[in-house]
Amino acid sequence: MTELDIIPSGKPAGAEIRGVDVGRGVAPEVMAQIRDALHTYKAVVLRGQKLTAPQQIAFSGYFGKLERHVIPQYLVPGYEDLVRVSNILDDAGKPIGLVDAGRIWHSDGHFLPKPNLYSMLYALEIPHDQSGKALGETLFANTAHACATLPDAMRQRIQGLRSANSLANVYRRMHAENAAKNRPPLTEEQKREAIHPVIRTHPVTGEKCLYVTRAATARILDLSPQESDALIGELADWCVRDEFVYAHQWQVGDLLLWDNCGSQHLAVGDYALPQRRLLHRTTVGGTETF
Ligand code: OGA
Ligand code: MN
Repeated sequence: MTELDIIPSGKPAGAEIRGVDVGRGVAPEVMAQIRDALHTYKAVVLRGQKLTAPQQIAFSGYFGKLERHVIPQYLVPGYEDLVRVSNILDDAGKPIGLVDAGRIWHSDGHFLPKPNLYSMLYALEIPHDQSGKALGETLFANTAHACATLPDAMRQRIQGLRSANSLANVYRRMHAENAAKNRPPLTEEQKREAIHPVIRTHPVTGEKCLYVTRAATARILDLSPQESDALIGELADWCVRDEFVYAHQWQVGDLLLWDNCGSQHLAVGDYALPQRRLLHRTTVGGTETF
Protein backbone atom coordinates (compact mmCIF):
# COMPACT_ATOMS: atom_id res chain seq x y z
CA MET A 1 0.00 0.00 0.00
CA THR A 2 1.33 3.45 -0.87
CA GLU A 3 2.11 5.75 2.01
CA LEU A 4 0.84 9.30 1.73
CA ASP A 5 3.42 12.03 1.31
CA ILE A 6 2.72 14.31 4.30
CA ILE A 7 4.64 17.52 5.00
CA PRO A 8 3.87 18.95 8.47
CA SER A 9 3.77 22.75 8.75
CA GLY A 10 6.16 22.74 11.70
CA LYS A 11 3.45 24.28 13.89
CA PRO A 12 1.11 22.29 16.16
CA ALA A 13 -1.51 22.39 13.40
CA GLY A 14 -1.35 22.07 9.64
CA ALA A 15 0.17 19.72 7.05
CA GLU A 16 0.25 19.38 3.30
CA ILE A 17 -0.64 16.07 1.66
CA ARG A 18 1.02 15.54 -1.71
CA GLY A 19 0.39 13.18 -4.55
CA VAL A 20 -3.41 12.86 -4.35
CA ASP A 21 -5.61 13.89 -7.29
CA VAL A 22 -9.04 14.09 -5.68
CA GLY A 23 -10.84 14.63 -8.99
CA ARG A 24 -9.69 11.21 -10.22
CA GLY A 25 -11.25 9.48 -7.26
CA VAL A 26 -9.45 8.40 -4.11
CA ALA A 27 -9.04 4.75 -3.09
CA PRO A 28 -10.53 3.82 0.32
CA GLU A 29 -7.12 3.09 1.86
CA VAL A 30 -5.86 6.52 0.76
CA MET A 31 -9.02 8.13 2.15
CA ALA A 32 -8.34 6.42 5.47
CA GLN A 33 -4.81 7.87 5.51
CA ILE A 34 -6.10 11.37 4.71
CA ARG A 35 -8.55 11.04 7.58
CA ASP A 36 -5.77 9.92 9.94
CA ALA A 37 -3.64 12.89 8.85
CA LEU A 38 -6.60 15.21 9.44
CA HIS A 39 -6.90 13.88 13.00
CA THR A 40 -3.17 14.26 13.60
CA TYR A 41 -2.63 17.70 12.06
CA LYS A 42 -6.17 19.12 12.49
CA ALA A 43 -5.95 21.01 9.19
CA VAL A 44 -4.58 19.45 6.00
CA VAL A 45 -4.30 20.86 2.50
CA LEU A 46 -4.21 19.09 -0.84
CA ARG A 47 -2.86 21.60 -3.36
CA GLY A 48 -3.37 21.87 -7.10
CA GLN A 49 -6.79 20.20 -7.20
CA LYS A 50 -9.20 20.58 -10.10
CA LEU A 51 -12.62 19.78 -8.73
CA THR A 52 -16.17 20.05 -9.96
CA ALA A 53 -18.93 20.67 -7.43
CA PRO A 54 -20.08 17.01 -7.46
CA GLN A 55 -16.47 15.84 -7.01
CA GLN A 56 -16.00 18.01 -3.93
CA ILE A 57 -19.33 16.82 -2.52
CA ALA A 58 -18.46 13.16 -3.17
CA PHE A 59 -15.03 13.49 -1.54
CA SER A 60 -16.50 15.31 1.49
CA GLY A 61 -19.18 12.66 1.86
CA TYR A 62 -16.55 10.08 2.68
CA PHE A 63 -15.96 11.84 6.00
CA GLY A 64 -19.59 11.68 7.13
CA LYS A 65 -23.03 13.08 6.50
CA LEU A 66 -22.96 16.51 4.86
CA GLU A 67 -24.81 19.40 6.47
CA ARG A 68 -26.40 22.48 5.07
CA HIS A 69 -24.98 25.79 6.18
CA VAL A 70 -26.96 27.85 8.69
CA ILE A 71 -27.36 30.58 6.06
CA PRO A 72 -29.00 28.93 3.02
CA GLN A 73 -29.02 31.83 0.55
CA TYR A 74 -25.34 31.46 -0.26
CA LEU A 75 -25.51 27.92 -1.62
CA VAL A 76 -23.86 27.20 -4.95
CA PRO A 77 -26.92 27.13 -7.27
CA GLY A 78 -28.11 23.56 -7.76
CA TYR A 79 -26.16 22.14 -4.80
CA GLU A 80 -27.66 21.85 -1.35
CA ASP A 81 -24.38 20.91 0.32
CA LEU A 82 -22.04 23.48 -1.19
CA VAL A 83 -21.76 27.02 0.19
CA ARG A 84 -19.95 29.93 -1.39
CA VAL A 85 -17.51 31.83 0.79
CA SER A 86 -16.82 34.98 -1.20
CA ASN A 87 -16.61 38.76 -1.29
CA ILE A 88 -17.81 38.90 -4.92
CA LEU A 89 -21.01 40.82 -5.75
CA ASP A 90 -23.53 39.86 -8.42
CA ASP A 91 -24.82 42.26 -11.09
CA ALA A 92 -27.34 43.66 -8.64
CA GLY A 93 -24.57 44.38 -6.14
CA LYS A 94 -25.64 41.57 -3.80
CA PRO A 95 -23.03 39.23 -2.28
CA ILE A 96 -22.88 35.82 -3.99
CA GLY A 97 -21.58 34.15 -0.85
CA LEU A 98 -20.78 34.48 2.80
CA VAL A 99 -18.42 37.44 2.88
CA ASP A 100 -17.60 37.65 6.57
CA ALA A 101 -17.12 33.97 7.44
CA GLY A 102 -14.93 33.38 10.43
CA ARG A 103 -13.44 36.78 11.24
CA ILE A 104 -13.29 35.86 14.92
CA TRP A 105 -11.58 32.72 16.29
CA HIS A 106 -14.19 29.97 16.18
CA SER A 107 -15.04 26.35 15.55
CA ASP A 108 -17.76 25.63 12.97
CA GLY A 109 -21.17 24.79 14.41
CA HIS A 110 -20.03 25.38 18.01
CA PHE A 111 -23.48 26.84 18.72
CA LEU A 112 -25.26 23.65 17.57
CA PRO A 113 -26.22 20.75 19.87
CA LYS A 114 -24.35 18.56 17.35
CA PRO A 115 -21.46 20.72 16.12
CA ASN A 116 -19.91 20.23 12.68
CA LEU A 117 -17.21 17.59 12.79
CA TYR A 118 -15.19 18.66 9.74
CA SER A 119 -15.29 21.49 7.20
CA MET A 120 -13.66 21.75 3.80
CA LEU A 121 -12.84 24.74 1.58
CA TYR A 122 -11.85 24.54 -2.06
CA ALA A 123 -10.18 27.69 -3.44
CA LEU A 124 -11.36 29.01 -6.81
CA GLU A 125 -10.19 32.65 -6.58
CA ILE A 126 -7.68 34.07 -4.09
CA PRO A 127 -6.89 37.78 -3.63
CA HIS A 128 -3.33 39.10 -3.96
CA ASP A 129 -1.55 42.30 -3.12
CA GLN A 130 0.43 44.21 -5.74
CA SER A 131 3.58 42.17 -5.12
CA GLY A 132 1.65 38.94 -5.75
CA LYS A 133 1.45 37.87 -2.11
CA ALA A 134 -1.76 36.00 -1.33
CA LEU A 135 -4.16 37.79 1.01
CA GLY A 136 -6.99 36.42 3.11
CA GLU A 137 -5.09 33.76 5.02
CA THR A 138 -6.91 31.32 7.29
CA LEU A 139 -5.26 30.66 10.65
CA PHE A 140 -5.54 27.37 12.54
CA ALA A 141 -4.80 26.48 16.16
CA ASN A 142 -4.65 22.95 17.60
CA THR A 143 -7.05 22.65 20.56
CA ALA A 144 -5.80 19.20 21.63
CA HIS A 145 -2.34 20.72 21.93
CA ALA A 146 -3.84 23.65 23.86
CA CYS A 147 -5.51 21.20 26.24
CA ALA A 148 -2.41 19.05 26.72
CA THR A 149 -0.22 22.07 27.52
CA LEU A 150 -2.60 23.66 30.05
CA PRO A 151 -1.03 24.24 33.46
CA ASP A 152 -2.19 21.51 35.88
CA ALA A 153 -4.01 23.95 38.14
CA MET A 154 -6.04 25.25 35.22
CA ARG A 155 -6.84 21.75 33.93
CA GLN A 156 -8.12 20.82 37.39
CA ARG A 157 -10.12 24.01 37.66
CA ILE A 158 -11.97 23.49 34.38
CA GLN A 159 -12.47 19.74 34.70
CA GLY A 160 -16.19 19.02 34.41
CA LEU A 161 -17.16 22.62 33.54
CA ARG A 162 -19.66 23.26 30.78
CA SER A 163 -20.31 26.28 28.58
CA ALA A 164 -23.26 27.87 26.78
CA ASN A 165 -22.61 28.70 23.13
CA SER A 166 -24.77 30.54 20.63
CA LEU A 167 -24.93 32.05 17.19
CA ALA A 168 -26.37 35.14 18.88
CA ASN A 169 -23.07 35.46 20.73
CA VAL A 170 -21.15 35.10 17.45
CA TYR A 171 -23.19 37.97 15.97
CA ARG A 172 -22.79 40.04 19.11
CA ARG A 173 -19.01 39.63 18.91
CA MET A 174 -18.97 40.37 15.20
CA HIS A 175 -20.93 43.57 15.70
CA ALA A 176 -18.64 44.55 18.58
CA GLU A 177 -15.62 44.10 16.30
CA ASN A 178 -17.41 45.65 13.35
CA ALA A 179 -16.94 42.47 11.36
CA ALA A 180 -20.56 41.64 10.43
CA LYS A 181 -21.95 42.21 6.96
CA ASN A 182 -25.17 41.06 5.34
CA ARG A 183 -26.30 38.82 8.15
CA PRO A 184 -30.04 38.10 8.19
CA PRO A 185 -31.83 38.31 11.57
CA LEU A 186 -31.64 35.18 13.67
CA THR A 187 -34.56 32.79 13.91
CA GLU A 188 -35.73 31.67 17.35
CA GLU A 189 -34.06 28.33 16.79
CA GLN A 190 -30.78 29.98 15.84
CA LYS A 191 -30.88 32.01 19.05
CA ARG A 192 -30.87 28.85 21.15
CA GLU A 193 -27.80 28.05 23.24
CA ALA A 194 -25.90 24.78 22.98
CA ILE A 195 -24.29 23.39 26.12
CA HIS A 196 -20.89 21.73 25.67
CA PRO A 197 -18.08 20.54 27.92
CA VAL A 198 -15.16 22.96 28.24
CA ILE A 199 -12.84 20.00 27.73
CA ARG A 200 -14.35 18.03 24.89
CA THR A 201 -13.49 14.47 23.88
CA HIS A 202 -12.90 13.92 20.17
CA PRO A 203 -15.66 11.59 18.95
CA VAL A 204 -13.29 9.58 16.74
CA THR A 205 -9.86 9.68 18.37
CA GLY A 206 -10.84 10.17 22.03
CA GLU A 207 -8.38 13.06 22.30
CA LYS A 208 -9.16 15.80 24.86
CA CYS A 209 -9.65 19.19 23.24
CA LEU A 210 -10.22 22.64 24.71
CA TYR A 211 -13.61 23.75 23.43
CA VAL A 212 -14.02 27.44 24.23
CA THR A 213 -14.00 30.10 21.52
CA ARG A 214 -14.09 33.88 21.43
CA ALA A 215 -16.88 33.76 18.89
CA ALA A 216 -19.52 31.39 20.27
CA THR A 217 -18.90 30.86 23.98
CA ALA A 218 -21.27 33.14 25.85
CA ARG A 219 -20.72 31.86 29.38
CA ILE A 220 -19.30 29.10 31.52
CA LEU A 221 -22.07 27.57 33.60
CA ASP A 222 -22.08 27.89 37.41
CA LEU A 223 -19.65 30.82 37.46
CA SER A 224 -20.36 34.49 38.14
CA PRO A 225 -20.51 36.64 34.97
CA GLN A 226 -17.15 38.20 35.86
CA GLU A 227 -15.47 34.84 36.49
CA SER A 228 -17.04 33.42 33.38
CA ASP A 229 -15.89 36.26 31.11
CA ALA A 230 -12.38 36.13 32.53
CA LEU A 231 -12.13 32.36 32.10
CA ILE A 232 -13.46 32.44 28.53
CA GLY A 233 -10.87 35.09 27.69
CA GLU A 234 -8.06 33.14 29.32
CA LEU A 235 -8.92 29.80 27.69
CA ALA A 236 -9.70 31.24 24.26
CA ASP A 237 -6.41 33.17 24.25
CA TRP A 238 -4.51 30.09 25.41
CA CYS A 239 -5.74 28.16 22.38
CA VAL A 240 -4.52 30.67 19.85
CA ARG A 241 -1.14 31.85 21.12
CA ASP A 242 0.93 33.09 18.17
CA GLU A 243 3.59 30.39 18.35
CA PHE A 244 0.88 27.72 18.08
CA VAL A 245 -0.87 29.07 15.03
CA TYR A 246 -0.52 27.77 11.49
CA ALA A 247 -1.29 30.46 8.90
CA HIS A 248 -2.57 28.95 5.69
CA GLN A 249 -1.63 31.00 2.66
CA TRP A 250 -4.07 30.09 -0.07
CA GLN A 251 -3.41 29.13 -3.66
CA VAL A 252 -6.08 28.53 -6.27
CA GLY A 253 -6.73 24.76 -6.33
CA ASP A 254 -6.20 24.24 -2.59
CA LEU A 255 -8.56 21.81 -0.92
CA LEU A 256 -8.26 22.42 2.81
CA LEU A 257 -9.92 20.18 5.41
CA TRP A 258 -10.12 20.83 9.11
CA ASP A 259 -11.28 19.13 12.26
CA ASN A 260 -13.63 21.34 14.26
CA CYS A 261 -13.06 19.52 17.56
CA GLY A 262 -9.27 19.50 17.24
CA SER A 263 -8.90 23.07 16.03
CA GLN A 264 -10.14 26.64 15.97
CA HIS A 265 -9.75 28.88 12.94
CA LEU A 266 -9.84 32.52 11.92
CA ALA A 267 -10.24 34.22 8.55
CA VAL A 268 -7.98 37.24 8.02
CA GLY A 269 -9.88 40.07 6.32
CA ASP A 270 -6.97 41.98 4.80
CA TYR A 271 -8.38 42.33 1.25
CA ALA A 272 -11.26 44.10 -0.49
CA LEU A 273 -12.75 44.32 -3.98
CA PRO A 274 -11.51 44.47 -6.67
CA GLN A 275 -9.40 41.76 -4.97
CA ARG A 276 -11.73 38.77 -5.33
CA ARG A 277 -12.00 35.70 -3.12
CA LEU A 278 -14.13 32.66 -3.87
CA LEU A 279 -14.13 29.31 -2.13
CA HIS A 280 -16.60 26.43 -2.05
CA ARG A 281 -17.32 24.96 1.33
CA THR A 282 -18.71 21.63 2.48
CA THR A 283 -19.51 20.71 6.05
CA VAL A 284 -19.60 17.29 7.69
CA GLY A 285 -22.08 16.94 10.54
CA GLY A 286 -21.16 15.70 13.99
CA THR A 287 -22.65 14.11 17.08
CA GLU A 288 -23.55 15.30 20.56
CA THR A 289 -20.52 16.39 22.55
CA PHE A 290 -19.08 14.67 25.60
C1 OGA B 1 -15.58 28.92 7.25
C2 OGA B 1 -14.50 29.84 7.60
C3 OGA B 1 -12.50 30.88 6.78
C4 OGA B 1 -12.01 31.57 5.56
O1 OGA B 1 -15.90 28.82 6.05
O2 OGA B 1 -16.09 28.26 8.17
O3 OGA B 1 -14.28 30.09 8.74
O4 OGA B 1 -10.81 31.91 5.56
N1 OGA B 1 -13.77 30.32 6.58
O5 OGA B 1 -12.79 31.79 4.63
MN1 MN C 1 -15.42 28.70 10.04
